[in-house]
Amino acid sequence: MPLVPLHEMYQDAVANRYAIGQFNVSNLEFVQAVLEAAEEMNSPAIIAASSSAIKYAGLENLVAIVRTAVGNLDVPIALHLDHGADVEIVRQCVDAGFTSVMIDGSQHPLEENIHLTQEVVDYAHMFNVTVEAELGRLSGMEDEVKVEAKDSCYTDPDEAVKFVQESGCDALAIAVGTSHGAHKFKGEAKLDFDRIETIKQMTGIPLVLHGASGVPEDLISKISQYGGDIPGAKGVPDEAYHQAIDRGINKINIDTDLRLAFTAAIRELLSSDPGVFDPRKILGYARQAVKTIIKGKMEVLGSANRVSVEGVETEPYSITSSS
Ligand code: G3H
Ligand code: 13P
Ligand code: ZN
Repeated sequence: MPLVPLHEMYQDAVANRYAIGQFNVSNLEFVQAVLEAAEEMNSPAIIAASSSAIKYAGLENLVAIVRTAVGNLDVPIALHLDHGADVEIVRQCVDAGFTSVMIDGSQHPLEENIHLTQEVVDYAHMFNVTVEAELGRLSGMEDEVKVEAKDSCYTDPDEAVKFVQESGCDALAIAVGTSHGAHKFKGEAKLDFDRIETIKQMTGIPLVLHGASGVPEDLISKISQYGGDIPGAKGVPDEAYHQAIDRGINKINIDTDLRLAFTAAIRELLSSDPGVFDPRKILGYARQAVKTIIKGKMEVLGSANRVSVEGVETEPYSITSSS
């Protein structure tokens, strides 16, 4: 099956209230892990690359690898640009064959963000490519955050309505308490679920949760056991995924958990088998660990078994039935 535009995959996710996992890839083994997991779980999936991942792999190499590997599969896969900073990188990815792009203008003032996103929408939609935009700032929040501070960082529902209407984006990444990386919360994990629900009801479009890795304790302990050290690591618990999805999230972004699984496996293998020096044994073991994490996410997000033999089980898309 060729790569699928993400908005087509959203139809089933919105209608049946689940989230599609975005899995950021760093190398061939990550791509293979996502695709094998998707196939084994009968799940749609999003392979995502950030600008730095594209620079690392090479844009054409990345697209060639993904396209070739996806060609043999019966599950829908989208190739997505994560946190595109400007129109130039978006154009390059659209031209190279990505089926979804994110333009992240969240650091700009509202009007500037709208204008930048409009420009991306105008270009991407000519090629049936989906556009995700971002509103609000994904800064890590302290436990006892002041309401005013929260309001200045988190996505404002009224601004979200204006942003979606004027920019024409297909999906919106919102700030509700998560942040990127392995240190998301100092104390208990707190997400503003009510805000998700309000924004969903007011905008009606698929909402995206960035910074959503769970940072599993067993991976952090394994990394420590074999000589690593990531103190104070804390992520989003599975229960929060359920609530976020129930309130209107349809895409969940995972990068850190895959990096942790990869690193933990490599540390473990090199330490447990001092004689190993075949990269295929080392990276193959890490690939398996990454795949296990992805399969677990597909289960928790509800995307597992959403693919019928004919493809995604789509129902007519209606934004009013989405929340
Ligand atoms: O959202 C950020 C992603 O985790 C990408 O990180 O720029 O290091 O690839 P990166
Ligand atoms: P994590 O760092 O929580 O994995 O978030 C990844 C992300 O949001 C990529 O856009
Ligand atoms: Zn992100």
